[in-house]
Amino acid sequence: MNIWIRQIHRWTAIAFTVVVIANFVALGVGRPVMWLYYVPLLPLAVLLLTGLYLFALPYAVRWRSVPRTG
Ligand code: HEM
Repeated sequence: MNIWIRQIHRWTAIAFTVVVIANFVALGVGRPVMWLYYVPLLPLAVLLLTGLYLFALPYAVRWRSVPRTG
């Protein structure tokens, strides 16, 4: 499960980068594409969710390994 989330984060990062570069190319060519501006938001949302999950992971492992008393 954790490996899957990391893989999703990794490949979405690549897709996000490609779309951002496409945006810059469109601007450079002098033909800004309005809908292309919004396309990076989708992979960015996926990155945010999976990234927050990856961020919380080490803390979750620590919480789980704390010995319970009582
Ligand atoms: C939007 C909010 C984001 C959050 C909260 C976030 C968070 C994280 C976290 C916690 C990790 C794991 C670090 C570790 O190994 O301990 C990670 C890995 C990574 N992040 Fe993000 N990230 C975000 C966005 C992005 C973006 C925009 C990119 C690049 C376009 C990106 C690229 C990567 C890559 C390549 C890794 C390494 C993945 C791997 O180990 O295979 N992330 N991120």
